[in-house]
Amino acid sequence: MERKTVVVLDFGSQYTQLILRRVRELGYYAELLPYDEPLESVQRLSPVAFILSGGPSSVYDENAPKIPKYVFDSNLPVLGICYGLQALVHQLGGKVEKSSHREFGPAQLEVVKHVGIFERLPNKFTVWMSHSDRVEVLPNGFEVIAKSENSPYAAVRSSNNRYYGVQFHPEVVHTQYGKEILKNFLSIVANLSPNWSMTNLAHELVEEIRRKIDGKVILGLSGGVDSSVVAMLLHKATPDKLIPIFVDTGLLRKNEGKEVVEQFKQVGIDIHYIDASNRFFEALEKIEDPEEKRKRIGHTFIDVFYEEAMKLKEQHGDIEYLAQGTLYPDIIESKVAERKAGAKIKTHHNVGGLPEKLPFKIIEPLRYLFKDEVRALGKELGLPESILYRHPFPGPGLAVRIIGTVTREAVNILQEADAIFIEELKKWDLYNKVWQAFAVLLPVKTVGVMGDYRTYENVIALRAVTSEDGMTADWAKLPHEFLNHVAKRIVNEVRGVNRVVYDITSKPPATIEWE
Ligand code: XMP
Repeated sequence: MERKTVVVLDFGSQYTQLILRRVRELGYYAELLPYDEPLESVQRLSPVAFILSGGPSSVYDENAPKIPKYVFDSNLPVLGICYGLQALVHQLGGKVEKSSHREFGPAQLEVVKHVGIFERLPNKFTVWMSHSDRVEVLPNGFEVIAKSENSPYAAVRSSNNRYYGVQFHPEVVHTQYGKEILKNFLSIVANLSPNWSMTNLAHELVEEIRRKIDGKVILGLSGGVDSSVVAMLLHKATPDKLIPIFVDTGLLRKNEGKEVVEQFKQVGIDIHYIDASNRFFEALEKIEDPEEKRKRIGHTFIDVFYEEAMKLKEQHGDIEYLAQGTLYPDIIESKVAERKAGAKIKTHHNVGGLPEKLPFKIIEPLRYLFKDEVRALGKELGLPESILYRHPFPGPGLAVRIIGTVTREAVNILQEADAIFIEELKKWDLYNKVWQAFAVLLPVKTVGVMGDYRTYENVIALRAVTSEDGMTADWAKLPHEFLNHVAKRIVNEVRGVNRVVYDITSKPPATIEWE
């Protein structure tokens, strides 16, 4: 993308993505790169300022990450945060030392000079600290502009106004005026004007697709936000070239396939719908192990998609591309994953993860965007709210919400119970207040009494969580009257269920899905 970029260099802090989010929220385009990204790829982005993230290292560690030379050579404004500040000071000739006054959590900041990043800010406010080393001696030409009880150099700058450094984390919400500090750095110190809005972006992406795409494009459309936004972009750019494929696995929510087809018809997009449910049920026959289920669903999906894509290629001849709804966090994560092997909790299967063997060029128009930006973009492009704010749904679908073996009968029961839960959440205006809500079918039967009869039937567990990003989650404190009402409806209306329970575990230690 050809636009001026604020380059955030990642030194490994858990907050690095937040820096990027804040900068973009302020209306400036930013990209995140590893601290040792080579000069050429940084240059390609037309950098206009650097922000150096925090990180777990100490500048005196043997392999401590260093700020690349091109940052100093560039003459661009630089803001170092936490480790970023320490590395800046260390490499410019100052001194950083292990401190006996470690600071973790809130600290009172006292601004001693209201310049640059602190213009128009109060004298004192609370900031979020997380460090053990601290700056002890400033490089030549630097001055202190704020201090805290345990950090005499809590914020510094060079007198030529080019380098700024803060020991605290302006990117976290617990830092008061954090956003103003970043804004001041960008607008006052770096003298930049905002260049990042969804209206511009929608326009640019459509233009870019129009310019670059010369053959037909297939897209695995799941009805989720990401693939839907990709579909809209391609439709706006080159309506006659888009071939969206919807694979009905038979493991979707009640009526989902039909609804997706219908919703897209209304915005003028015809979906190529494939009912592959038989193949999925066959693949899942007698399989209980969650990882095995995921694997089989993943493979079946790839097979079905591949066969269909090849058929379409024969019919249409000129299919050149496969579009995918890959997002920026996936890109960042895969970059990070190349460095560290993270502990694997579950094999996530996405429509996005497919196509190594497909003979198409991949296009990923959302690869620089975060989820909320994708939603904003979708809104700009005219996608209905029912798609934009739909709860996340796992690739393996209801198969991971049926504990034990997956049968059509089990899917039917679960779909009915789930549909009641979701319908009531919407009626009670709770749907948009939770991150995700769904029903789970348990592999146990329990005794009940209905009328004068003993019953021995299935248990449905309801799960609803609040979350920012799905990484951590809390169980949703839904009103008792609501849960009561939903449980009654499920037991009364869904044949084969005589008991409903509510999951009150957070993540961690549980995960959001049950498998
Ligand atoms: P867990 O269960 O890991 O889920 O706490 C976190 C979020 O990820 C979704 N999820 C998946 N999404 N493919 C997906 O595309 C998957 O295999 C998958 N497994 C879980 C889950 O619904 C929640 O939003």
